[in-house]
Amino acid sequence: MKFFLDTANIAEIEEGVSWGCVDGITTNPTLISRELVGKTDFKTLVKKILDLVDGPVSLEVTSVKAEGMIEEGKKLKKLGDNVVVKIPTTVEGLKALKVLKSLKIETNATLVFSVNQALMVAKAGATYSSPFVGRLDDVSEDGMSLIEDIREVYDNFGIETKIIVASIRHPVHVRDAALIGADIATMPFEVFKKLINHPKTDEGLKRFLDDWQKIDKSKLMF
Ligand code: E4P
Repeated sequence: MKFFLDTANIAEIEEGVSWGCVDGITTNPTLISRELVGKTDFKTLVKKILDLVDGPVSLEVTSVKAEGMIEEGKKLKKLGDNVVVKIPTTVEGLKALKVLKSLKIETNATLVFSVNQALMVAKAGATYSSPFVGRLDDVSEDGMSLIEDIREVYDNFGIETKIIVASIRHPVHVRDAALIGADIATMPFEVFKKLINHPKTDEGLKRFLDDWQKIDKSKLMF
């Protein structure tokens, strides 16, 4: 299973990449705008992200009509080979997915909230589909059961579109996504950090080091 960071923050990306567990990045207009206000410009920010990450980087279009999405997609792709163009799951989005596929530009269909939407974007040629589990949980629906259903349907028909579990809010979402067999989990850095923590690890390490302090170091062989 691959781990993507759902962020456009350079410090978070640098730190995550140094841990050796980051396979890619997803962004959206909210995440990008957070990094731009009074700081830098879009192209400079994106270039930095692309240089840091050895893997797919999703950049989202902001047009609502297919023609605009396609033009934006072509421009975004020129920024780097690892750019994946993020397209909203709408009728216009389907048209754009189809054209971008014919241009061999990888795409990520975003804001997927149902099995039928996941099927449609796959048929239109999306490389990735991104069901949002946290936002479903927010409205008292079970986000993770959508992932189970999409996994089953994609497997039923040998669909190769990769499932990115998005809108992840906590480590249990990541564990469940892995058990279901989702291809990718994209998560905020705050969630990513929590994946490695366990109080028993900290407690165990403290005891080992405390006991080590008690010995006579002159008896060591090296
Ligand atoms: C995915 O690609 C989206 O950027 C993201 O997961 C949205 O998450 P949110 O619901 O926490 O905003």
